[in-house]
Amino acid sequence: MDVHKGLILDETVKLHQDRQANGPFVPGTTEIWPAGAVLDERDRTALVEAALEMRIAAGPSSRKFESRFARALGLRKAHLVNSGSSANLLALTAFTSPLLEDRRLRRGDEVITVAAGFPTTVNPIIQNGLVPVFVDVELATYNTTAERVAAAIGPKTRAIMIAHALGNPFEVAEIAQLAEEHDLFLIEDNCDAVGSTYDGRATGTFGDITTVSFYPAHHLTMGEGGCVLTSNLALARIVESLRDWGRDCWCEPGETNKCLKRFQYQMGTLPEGYDHKYIFSHVGYNMKATDIQAALGLTQLDKLDDFCTARRRNWRRLRDGLDGVPHLVLPEATPRSDPSWFGFALTVDPDAPFSRAALVGFLEDRKIGTRRLFAGNLTRHPAYIGQEHRVVGELTNSDIIAEQTFWVGVYPALTDEMMDYVISSVKEFVGGRA
Ligand SMILES: Cc1ncc(COP(=O)(O)O)c(C=O)c1O
Repeated sequence: MDVHKGLILDETVKLHQDRQANGPFVPGTTEIWPAGAVLDERDRTALVEAALEMRIAAGPSSRKFESRFARALGLRKAHLVNSGSSANLLALTAFTSPLLEDRRLRRGDEVITVAAGFPTTVNPIIQNGLVPVFVDVELATYNTTAERVAAAIGPKTRAIMIAHALGNPFEVAEIAQLAEEHDLFLIEDNCDAVGSTYDGRATGTFGDITTVSFYPAHHLTMGEGGCVLTSNLALARIVESLRDWGRDCWCEPGETNKCLKRFQYQMGTLPEGYDHKYIFSHVGYNMKATDIQAALGLTQLDKLDDFCTARRRNWRRLRDGLDGVPHLVLPEATPRSDPSWFGFALTVDPDAPFSRAALVGFLEDRKIGTRRLFAGNLTRHPAYIGQEHRVVGELTNSDIIAEQTFWVGVYPALTDEMMDYVISSVKEFVGGRA
């Protein structure tokens, strides 16, 4: 390492240590955030080093991250992108590729999803001219069931795209089985559930394709970032093409003639030998991330197991501590799953002698951060009113979630002391009103 770089990185470590000087936890004063990035000195030096080397575009760190992350999740291919939302858009759009011939999704085809979720799990359906079919979820697990999905399958149904809610796996083995029986594609939005398992198997490995987000609230962060993963090599090629402007060529930017046939292709109505680097087989995007992001992803990835352990520990402490508190629906792991929790959801019983607003206000006044279960019921948001969709059954629980549910944090920076303060605060509030 050259001397200047060594000095800068040494100083970076010192700066990190200075900035880390956290005071003691002061209940009611110290913020208990619902989510956030957990960054140590290795993360900081990795970022600085990538910047010093001016690795400003996607390059070797991105490729290294992709191969390490795919291995960590037990899948063959990973494609790094600029957000979890982009990952979802690419994942679904991949199924519209002409390369899938008769199996491709076409305008008007239906995709089953849930109303109680994050918007960009559903938006790719609409953005591709497909029709979302909304089903309800259960309270406590906040996931839908195979039974509800089965009831929604109709003659136009071609795919299922659902997120594991707040890290809690949906009945993914059963839903994958349904998908197989009905010849449907299954897209697992695993943005909130990295490290979760169902039947002992990692979420994200059941469907045809899966997505991850690296926004700071998530299990691993790159600031902004996301990933599309699959073990289907044909799909992986389509995702890569869609991510990289729609190119047919698979040479990295800056790399030439990896295919050894750069000037020997004839595609479309182009002249023979048109440079393969500039042949476009998809109507694509540019959704690449940079090596600066990937450098952070690599150091974060080393800590994934510890992060998941901390999330489970915090969730368990809250769950045990709040057990038996009246008027609240406490969260439950889906049977046969081991969630790597994203958050701890609470639903105020509609008949409770207090409102969600009052409880949330009480907690927020104590610096205990709360969040809604994302959209609650997407069909009630201005963006979706008037969009073509189908609802199967009633969205009763999605409405209850919109009106009565919120979640508090379990992310790794939160300590036992903080969790105990959350527990005692909820108990104090409910105890005073029960
Ligand atoms: C389930 C789910 N899917 C997708 C996303 C989108 O990820 P991003 O914020 O990286 O675009 C989120 C974001 O939090 C999410 O919770």
